[in-house]
Amino acid sequence: MTGEESNAFVFFGASGDLARKQIFPALHAMVAAGELDVPVVAVAHSGWSLDDLKGWARDAVLDNGGEDDEHLQSLLALLAYVDGDYQDDKTFESLREALGDATRPAHYLAIPPSLFGTVVDGLRRVGLHENARVIVEKPFGRDLESALELGGILERAFSEDAIFRIDHYLGKDEIMNLLYFRFANSFLEPVWNRHHVDHVEITLAEDFGVEGRGAFYESAGALRDVIENHIFQIVALLAMEPPTFQGYGAVQHAKEAVFRSMRPLSREDLVRGQFVGYRDEPQVAADSDVETFAAVRLFIDSWRWAGVPWLLRTGKHLAATAGEVRVYFKRPPQVLFHDADAESNYLRFRLSPVSEIALAARVKTPGQEFTGTQRELLIHTHTEANKKRAPYERLLAGAMTGDRALFTARGSVEAAWSVVDDVLQDHDAALPYDIGSWGPAEADRLASPYGGWHPLNPDAASPHPA
Ligand code: BG6
Repeated sequence: MTGEESNAFVFFGASGDLARKQIFPALHAMVAAGELDVPVVAVAHSGWSLDDLKGWARDAVLDNGGEDDEHLQSLLALLAYVDGDYQDDKTFESLREALGDATRPAHYLAIPPSLFGTVVDGLRRVGLHENARVIVEKPFGRDLESALELGGILERAFSEDAIFRIDHYLGKDEIMNLLYFRFANSFLEPVWNRHHVDHVEITLAEDFGVEGRGAFYESAGALRDVIENHIFQIVALLAMEPPTFQGYGAVQHAKEAVFRSMRPLSREDLVRGQFVGYRDEPQVAADSDVETFAAVRLFIDSWRWAGVPWLLRTGKHLAATAGEVRVYFKRPPQVLFHDADAESNYLRFRLSPVSEIALAARVKTPGQEFTGTQRELLIHTHTEANKKRAPYERLLAGAMTGDRALFTARGSVEAAWSVVDDVLQDHDAALPYDIGSWGPAEADRLASPYGGWHPLNPDAASPHPA
C-alpha cells in the first residue's frame, strides 16, 4: 500500500521500556495534534487486562511530562489489548478479531529482532500483512549477515515501501536541519568538498552509563549502538550529493551512495574503550570486552571527499552529554600574519543539549598589530517559543501516513553494516577509561594529526571551554 493512511496502530512490545519512555508519550502527542484517532491495539504476553494496559499507558504519559488531559482520555479510549504468546496462531487470530474493520494496520515491532520472524510469520498466516505497514526499530541486525537475514524475514510479508525502519536520530530537528541547512543555502556548496574541507569531527557523548541495559549492551557495544547508525546517518546527511529531485527517494539514493563509498574500517581506524566499573553492572560479564566508547577514523572514497578524514566518537560515562559536528576548513595557503598557526576556520553544528550553528572565522584584534582571534557567528536554532516535536511523534505519524522521508532504506542499512563488518570481529581490546573522562588516551592517536579532538563545552554557546 502506498499513500493511504493506516487505520489501526498495532503495538507489539507495549509493555517494554521504550514503550513507556517514548512511544506512549508520542502517541499522546499525536492524539493532541489530531494525528491519531484510530484503534491502538497492544499485543503482549504479560497476562494483563485492558485496564492494566490503560494504567501503564497513563503512567507512561504522566511520568514523561504529559498531562492528564482530554487527549490522554482520548488515547486511553483508543486502546485495545490482545494477550498471547507470539508463537501461538490464536494470538494472531485474536488480533484480527480485535482489528475488526481496520484492514490497513501499521504493525509496530518494539520487540527484540530475534522475535521478528515469529511475529511476521504469525501476521502472514492470518493475512494481517495485507495492506499493512511494518515499523521496526534499530538495531537492524548486529552485523551484515544478520541484517541480510532480517531483511529477508521482513520481505517474506512486506514490500520495501511498506517497511519503515526507525533510527530516531532522523526524526530530530537538529539532524533534519543538517539536510535543510546544506541544501536550502547556496553559499556552502562551493566549499563543501575535499578542496576546502580539511577534516570533520563528530562527537555524541553521554555522561551517563548503560542505565540497567547491561544485557542489551553486552550484545551491542558503542560501535553497533551509536556509530554504525546514528553517527553514520549524520555523516551521510553531511556528505551526500544534492538530491536530484524532490521527494524522499532522492535523499535515500544520495545517502545510500555515501554508505557505499565509505571505506570499510580496518583495525587501525578504531579505538575501543570501556569505562571502569562496566563489568560490575548487572547482566554484564565479569571479563566483558564490550566497548562503551568508540572512536573511528573514516574515509569516504568519493570524488567529493577523497582523502578527508571523518573523526567520529561516542561513549557512555564521558565528561559531558553533548552532540556536535565540526567541519574544519583548510588553512590559508600563505602565512601572512603572525597568528596563522591558530585553529582553522570551522562550521559547527551543535546537536545537543542546545541547538546551534556557528561559523568560526578570524578577525583582527583592535590595535596596531595584524593579529587576531577566532570568533563565531552564531545562530541559535531552538528557543522555547519554537517548540520541538519529539522524534517518535514525528516518525510514527510519518509511518501511519506512508511518508518515508525520515526512514532508512534496506540498501543503506546493509551498506552501513559492510563498513563495520570486519572490525566487529577484528579489533584491539577495549581500553579502560575513567568515568567522567573523554575516553582512553589512545583515541588521541586518531585525531592528533588533525589537531586533536576538540574539547566540547557541555552546554553553553561559547566554543572555548575554560
Ligand atoms: C539509542 C542508544 O539508540 O540512542 C542509546 O541505544 C543512546 O544507548 C541513545 O543513549 C541516544 O539517543 P539520544 O536521543 O538520547 O541522543
